[in-house]
Amino acid sequence: MLERIRALREAFDAALPAATDAEAIEALRVRFLARKGEVTGILRGLGQLAAEERKEVGKAANELRQRVQSGIDQALEQLKAQPADERHVDITLPGRRPWRGGLHPLRQTELRLIEIFQTMGFDLAYGPDVELDDYNFKALNFPDDHPARDLHDTFYIEKDVLLRTHTSPVQVRTMERLKPPVRVITPGRVYRCETIDASHAAVFHQLEGLYVDERVSMADLKGTLAAFARSLFGARVGVRFRPDFFPFTEPSVEFAFSCAFCGGKGCRVCKNSGWIEIGGAGMVDPEVFRAVDYDPERFTGFAFGLGIERIAMLLYEIPDIRFFFENDLRLLEATW
Ligand code: PHE
Repeated sequence: MLERIRALREAFDAALPAATDAEAIEALRVRFLARKGEVTGILRGLGQLAAEERKEVGKAANELRQRVQSGIDQALEQLKAQPADERHVDITLPGRRPWRGGLHPLRQTELRLIEIFQTMGFDLAYGPDVELDDYNFKALNFPDDHPARDLHDTFYIEKDVLLRTHTSPVQVRTMERLKPPVRVITPGRVYRCETIDASHAAVFHQLEGLYVDERVSMADLKGTLAAFARSLFGARVGVRFRPDFFPFTEPSVEFAFSCAFCGGKGCRVCKNSGWIEIGGAGMVDPEVFRAVDYDPERFTGFAFGLGIERIAMLLYEIPDIRFFFENDLRLLEATW
């Protein structure tokens, strides 16, 4: 019996320090002191013992009961003395870093492009996302039956009102507003009724450039894009032009940068071609000048347009355009 009492005392002494909330303390009380508790059980059994044993065991059992009772009372006392918000707090745990905000990788890319072109003397110009057919197509020399006007590509709001499909209408708005020389870039959101996949989104971003003055040439276009390529991807990157067609430029080109990742030898990023297609460009078509009342005999100009997502994907090695609008924190944090 004495042995059992000693074991119970040890068990209680071991369990008490861990009982730091009301529930754990109550559990101790039930285990030792309640009607069916272990100490209570011993006290009840005293009657069956021989007289001399009863005296000794009774003393030890009562001492244990008192010990348990005062231990529990003390623990409850301590619990009450603690401010509510310090309970359960382990102040030895390392702290948690606070969340901090950051610019979206697309915005970071856009700011980088803006800075590069501002250094070269381009101003910023903006236009509305909800655009008139006149600006998005007509003034840009798209014939009425041009396939780009097709419902499959364009989100129409009304017959002549649409979500702009490119940033080129800002060329027209800018030339209506300013006389040459004009040198602007126009970053912004564009919309196309596309099937969404790893490289296509229905909403994406473009950056347009426009430079109009006397004697602006295709060489100026190529030099400007080459300077841009070098500031973005490094001094060894070159520019390639290949013939293309846009209604609002003549001649028109698609332009590519030599792959900065493999130095043009061919790799996964450039799909082994050594070149990465960046955008479309060309010399402003005289028809566009006529639409904005510029004298096509006196002025020439170049324009280019590129996708900001595409650049951001290259800069941050992002493999899928959908990552930009899914806002997974792992991507947003990785590009801070
Ligand atoms: N607006 C064209 C597009 O979205 C790109 C472009 C811009 C081409 C300027 C030539 C000049 O595809």
